[in-house]
Amino acid sequence: MEENRDQWGSRLGFILATIGSAVGLGNIWRFSYQAYENGGGAFLFPYIFALLTAGLPLLLLEMGFGFFTRNSAPSSFRKIKEKFEWIGWWSVLVAFVVTVYYIVIIAWSLLFVFESFSLGWTADPEGFFFGEFLGFSGSAFTLGGIQWQIFFSLLAVWLINYFIIAGGVEKGIEKASKIFMPLLALMVLVIVIRGVTLPGAMQGVKAFITPDFSKILDFNIWVGAYGQIFFTLSLGFGIMIAYSSYLPKKSDVVKNGIIAGVANSVFSIVVGFGVFGVLGYMAQQQGVGIADVATSGIGLAFIAFPKAINLLPGAPQLFGFAFFLSLTIAGLSSSISLIESVVSSLIDNFSLSRKKAVTLVSIAGFALGVPMVTQGGLAILDIVDHFVNIFGLLLVGLVEMLVLSYAFDLDTIKDNMNESSDLHMGNGWKVLIKFVAPIFIGIGFVQNTFSELS
Ligand code: PHE
Ligand code: NA
Repeated sequence: MEENRDQWGSRLGFILATIGSAVGLGNIWRFSYQAYENGGGAFLFPYIFALLTAGLPLLLLEMGFGFFTRNSAPSSFRKIKEKFEWIGWWSVLVAFVVTVYYIVIIAWSLLFVFESFSLGWTADPEGFFFGEFLGFSGSAFTLGGIQWQIFFSLLAVWLINYFIIAGGVEKGIEKASKIFMPLLALMVLVIVIRGVTLPGAMQGVKAFITPDFSKILDFNIWVGAYGQIFFTLSLGFGIMIAYSSYLPKKSDVVKNGIIAGVANSVFSIVVGFGVFGVLGYMAQQQGVGIADVATSGIGLAFIAFPKAINLLPGAPQLFGFAFFLSLTIAGLSSSISLIESVVSSLIDNFSLSRKKAVTLVSIAGFALGVPMVTQGGLAILDIVDHFVNIFGLLLVGLVEMLVLSYAFDLDTIKDNMNESSDLHMGNGWKVLIKFVAPIFIGIGFVQNTFSELS
């Protein structure tokens, strides 16, 4: 059985696929705004602290776990103790639910790649997005009709994912990552260079990086940094467990994990310069302050950026193309990893062939996505997102961490990882996993749940 298990063809392939998973929509539309709001350059202190004390340690925990069990999440947890299998399924279920709406957003991005050729979002991007594009009815209970353009884009994005994942770990996911990641780096280079050389850009960049140290005394900002690190590294979805289960026996897990984890944060910071450069330019053109134009999430990508792109001097189409293509590629490489977490679990537990497993997941995921491409779609997407934020993400991660710490033996995972790695992890790692990370993630979970419920 184990000899038949898929394997990465190269170390670089594994690292690129892992970075592909970690670098996603959140790096482009969330990090920079979070920094701007929470102390600018001073936010780097809680952020890097969270990366070092929870992000990288947890990434290495998930990687070390999959590397040790050589199985996807549910069977990995079953190997520890029969009764823990559900934790694996829980993270896989969360991965599946997130996939369903994450791919809807990629479908929008893909359409916006084409809109950028003609600046099709019109002079009123907000009206366009909610009106013609989404046909938004305002309520999850008023489905209205299907938005056919988005429907077909959703189908296309699922097909792309399907063919890549059906190709296998080395010939599918690894190969795609080797194309996607350099392309993404190139597009981001275009965005950042154009972004920071625009008139007024420096005002935006200043807002992004000028440290406001009074903010970092706020405990909530530290908790927020832990939450962001957790999400940005794609933890708690069984992804890193599955990806690392495909590593050859002799792999340097520790170094690979650190490279991928650091690259993800570097990416976020670099993109931040581009995003805030563009926002600074827009603020100057409109004669307003940064606070009037800065935003994050869907509003940044599909409304603020189209507005800014409309105002660009020379070749706005090219910039729009680079921006929405990056969003699409960053999204795709993350969705591949989400789906692979589910697919690998089905393969491991129901002895399905890879093709059958991907087919099943794709059909189910596409079907469940269809309500989200109706006129009530945005409201449904929002509800599901809130639901996942409460019952998924931080909670699964917390449970996973506690179970591996207290019901299993961290030394087993650590020693197994150290054996084939140049860099060795010491006992400090165990302290971080057992005490430091659970405290912050735990508080983050409680706070997050209250804010989602209110
Ligand atoms: N890490 C991705 C981001 O920052 C999001 C993601 C989370 C992707 C979980 C896959 C799984 O956008
Ligand atoms: Na990320």
